[in-house]
Amino acid sequence: MKGHVVSLAGKSVIVTGAGSRIGARVAECAARSGAHLTLTGRRAAPLQVLAERLGTPVHRVCADLAAPDAGERIVMAAVDRFGRVDAVVNSAWLAGIAPFDASDPAMFDGMFAVNVRGPAELVRCALPWLRAERGAVVNVTSSGAGTAPAGRSFHLASTAALNSLTRSLARELAPDVRVNAVLPGPKGVGRTGRVTGLDGVRHLRGTVGPGAAHDRSGAVDAVARLVCFLLDPEQSGWITGTLIPVDGGWPA
Ligand SMILES: NC(=O)c1ccc[n+]([C@@H]2O[C@H](COP(=O)([O-])OP(=O)(O)OC[C@H]3O[C@@H](n4cnc5c(N)ncnc54)[C@H](OP(=O)(O)O)[C@@H]3O)[C@@H](O)[C@H]2O)c1
Repeated sequence: MKGHVVSLAGKSVIVTGAGSRIGARVAECAARSGAHLTLTGRRAAPLQVLAERLGTPVHRVCADLAAPDAGERIVMAAVDRFGRVDAVVNSAWLAGIAPFDASDPAMFDGMFAVNVRGPAELVRCALPWLRAERGAVVNVTSSGAGTAPAGRSFHLASTAALNSLTRSLARELAPDVRVNAVLPGPKGVGRTGRVTGLDGVRHLRGTVGPGAAHDRSGAVDAVARLVCFLLDPEQSGWITGTLIPVDGGWPA
């Protein structure tokens, strides 16, 4: 048996949503483990800032996951640069809070395009390379899926859909490609979220259930470390089709 240290040495890993928070921390963690990274998001600036501080080969691709050709563009960029794709981490999301009667079909389509179709297309386009490398997919979703706080119907429906897709793909792509999901709990401060700070966490908790077993607002590192563990076949080669919460017990 090899050591217990996660190693992604020489592996080509695509990370969406890499310009902020969880995606950026996953990229940092994967870089420390030796991965070669394709970082993607719509905005160039945060990807550039991140790339400059990572000590690993990095390729940056600006792409809107709602665009039909985004998956192919991102995958071909990774293949052109690194010659292979070993893993895909879907961390981008389009969040939104609105009462159902103030929502509209465009809001629904937007969330499902970015949160469900985008990740699915990225995996589809990467499949030949993922199969060749017996690779891995990790979808970052939310432990909020399955709960019902007010105003989050479309958003949580898209999250639940990505969880469902995770399990379906794990079965369909086995044994070549492992597919898992990591489910962070509310961490309080989001660029796209409108519920912020510990007050926001307490608000969410109040709308859902009794609360987290542990009051911890900085779980981003724990999420990133688990994602990298799931990417490394030496550590997690027998794990697929799982949905793993990293939420301190919220909303137990
Ligand atoms: N924030 C939380 O408290 C929380 C809680 C539970 C679960 N999560 C999950 O964790 C994951 C990451 O969350 P986060 O808080 O790190 O994200 P975030 O800071 O809100 O950033 C969202 C990321 O998605 C990218 N993105 C948004 N729309 C996009 C589009 N159309 N095309 C391509 N990229 C797009 C953004 O980059 P650009 O703007 O550059 O495109 C950004 O990097 C999500 O799946 C979310 O469900 C987060």
